[in-house]
Amino acid sequence: DAGALVDRFGRVHRDLRISLTDRCSLRCTYCMPEQGNEWLAKSSILSTDEIVRIAQVAASAGITTFRLTGGEPLLRADIVDVVRRLAALDGPGGPVEVALTTNGIRLGEFLPALQDAGLSRLNISIDTLDRERFRALTRRDRLDDVRAGIAAAAASDLRPLKLNAVAMRGVNDDELADLVAFALDHGAQMRFIEQMPLDAGHTWDRQSMVTREEILDALAARWTLNPIPGRGGAPAERFELAGVTTADGTPASVGVIASVTAPFCGACDRLRLTADGQLRNCLFSLDEYDVLPLLRSGAADADLDAALRDCVAGKLPGHAIDDPGFLQPPRGMNAIGG
Ligand code: GTP
Ligand code: 5AD
Ligand code: SF4
Repeated sequence: DAGALVDRFGRVHRDLRISLTDRCSLRCTYCMPEQGNEWLAKSSILSTDEIVRIAQVAASAGITTFRLTGGEPLLRADIVDVVRRLAALDGPGGPVEVALTTNGIRLGEFLPALQDAGLSRLNISIDTLDRERFRALTRRDRLDDVRAGIAAAAASDLRPLKLNAVAMRGVNDDELADLVAFALDHGAQMRFIEQMPLDAGHTWDRQSMVTREEILDALAARWTLNPIPGRGGAPAERFELAGVTTADGTPASVGVIASVTAPFCGACDRLRLTADGQLRNCLFSLDEYDVLPLLRSGAADADLDAALRDCVAGKLPGHAIDDPGFLQPPRGMNAIGG
């Protein structure tokens, strides 16, 4: 063990987000253009053997959680195999945890196999409960499929179950309380996300973004929110809903992910691996650390470990969204992995 992945600011990295594909079955406005992107070439997509290899090196360096993202990770044909092989890895602290962030489409079909393969946690995105709004936002008429996926997750024993919504003005900011009620009915925790400047159209603007404060005001009109301490490196600030229970008796809470107005960069413990083998030390980083050639040229584990350490060493104290010189990364959210 060469020791943990600690950056110049003392942050210990425990979480690796692995994007399995840049493709998606939806086209959410805050993520991808309507026509989609130019997809990554098949030849540049990491094979499952390659993913498992770099993941084992990361686990040996103290990574304890792998979160699979996309695009839409369930579009990867061998998703169950990926989960099974990652869940079998371990590091100095014991076995790792494998989590999944999905749009929910086809989840009903895959969930039993994913659980059998060792999946430990599940986050599902749902921004609106209204079919027309869903169609306008995602440019696909798939709300019923998403709801079926969430119903399957609710019927399983995977907990905590989290639902994600990006809060958007004039799109879903009048249905935040309804989304919370929907989550409670499904034994899930609703989380609202401040929109970040990662959309393909570069149309994000700070003024029209729905803020943490507005989200909390909207929820406080219906519930008493008690802050839950002990957040650690988690992006979500959590609140207990006083006097409320979920359908399945799990504690009722909501989360707010305020990456813009209340950044949590000081506690960030994440690294990212793109589907084409680029390590990133931040959602917003402009530099990437290419492990694809290493994986394909017979490099030793020590070389992969060194690439991870280079990536960590180059990490900045935080994002610079508010700086006048802020530059959005060239890749869209679908290729970074969220
Ligand atoms: P948990 O471990 O269950 O809390 O998952 P998560 O919230 O980290 O992951 P998820 O994929 O559900 O992402 C929810 C939102 O948090 C998305 O908008 C992500 O882009 C955002 N997010 C996740 N990690 C980071 C991060 O390190 N920095 C920032 N700024 N946003 C992040
Ligand atoms: N800002 C904030 N969150 C985003 N997501 C996708 N694009 C953005 C953005 N520009 C969210 C998705 C999903 C998670 C993986 O990232 O809604 O819940
Ligand atoms: Fe980590 Fe970058 Fe997100 Fe800040 S913006 S929490 S440094 S990934």
